[in-house]
Amino acid sequence: MGLNIEKIRADFPILDRKVNGQQLAYFDNAATSQTPRQVINSIVKYYETINANIHRGVHTLSQEATDAYEAGREKVRKHFNVQHSHEIIFTSGTTHSINLVASGFGSLLQKGDEIIVSALEHHSNIVPWQMMCEKTGVVLKVIPMTLSGELDMEKYTQLLSAKTKLVFVNHVSNALGTINPIEKIISQAHEIGAAVLIDGAQAAPHIKADLQELDVDFYTVSAHKICGPTGVGILYGKEEWLRKLPPYQGGGEMIAEVTFEETTYADLPHKFEAGTPNICGGIAFGAALDYMNQIGFDKVASYEHELLTYATEKLLEIDGLKIYGESLQKTAVISFNVGNIHPYDIGTLLDKMGIAVRTGHHCAQPIMDYFQIPGTIRASFSFYNTFEEIDRLVGGVKKSVMMLS
Ligand code: ALA
Repeated sequence: MGLNIEKIRADFPILDRKVNGQQLAYFDNAATSQTPRQVINSIVKYYETINANIHRGVHTLSQEATDAYEAGREKVRKHFNVQHSHEIIFTSGTTHSINLVASGFGSLLQKGDEIIVSALEHHSNIVPWQMMCEKTGVVLKVIPMTLSGELDMEKYTQLLSAKTKLVFVNHVSNALGTINPIEKIISQAHEIGAAVLIDGAQAAPHIKADLQELDVDFYTVSAHKICGPTGVGILYGKEEWLRKLPPYQGGGEMIAEVTFEETTYADLPHKFEAGTPNICGGIAFGAALDYMNQIGFDKVASYEHELLTYATEKLLEIDGLKIYGESLQKTAVISFNVGNIHPYDIGTLLDKMGIAVRTGHHCAQPIMDYFQIPGTIRASFSFYNTFEEIDRLVGGVKKSVMMLS
């Protein structure tokens, strides 16, 4: 049995709305996914029934809120097949998760050590490491990309050496949709004793990663890409690494004892969770995973692949349309331009037709520089999109091209 799209769409109130007088067709799922009623309800229920601060009150509301928040962590643990729930750190999202590792990892390295990034990264997996290198004298190396929007794995092998201490690569490129061969990247890095961080932000909505099987050292996720709310995400870290890393922020929650002479830190995961967290966010993240698992990732992936194939064929019928990112292994993302028309112009006209796409460099300027373009139009699909909506997208692009040529 495939997906019941009509039933699924009924779970997403926003899909009913009109934009500029037209029915919304939402194709900006790689920026943020839409939120089903089940997740919205979990937030409403939290504020209506158990809103209280967690881990610190003896009163009933505080205990209920703590239990619900920790149940959210447990759902994340189970979903990603993580061994211990204390290896899941709640953060505000992937950017926070990467900054947490980058800010502390420098203290484990020495001047001249090397770390490896890929040319396909989002700025959030580049800039924190550059900041770390500036402070420590650690050297940043880059795995180059190819014309098809894939990583040059031969060059990756050549970059690895005894000096390499950490490799950080996204599981899926946000700008092109390329699914990177992370199994190979991880195993080759481990062979020479380097740790690996995988940015899973764009993979999580499409691929259910088994983190024990991957044997990855760090993995990051943002809830809002996977039908959850904004402002919450996780850092997974192997216990041994989380113990080695220093705390990121200081404050309440993350301490064992504080005196003016000395502070000792709380055990995992609290050592990295200073301050009042996004409590209802953690709960709603759990609700989003419940929702996605009840639909089923295999079904989601196969339906999204059908959408991708259909949209690719239809878009390529348009004269002068070029797709960037042609890996056979890709998620349902199409980044494209038509002739010399600026992506922003087409994006603006599509919006007038109720069609939401992202335009620009997608926080991945090195990819745009490689293709020597200012940006692309990016249509990113989700399991609640339909073939009819894709027909509207293709018709809308054709109309925009006619108006702008
Ligand atoms: N990282 C998000 C995107 O790719 C915002 O659009």
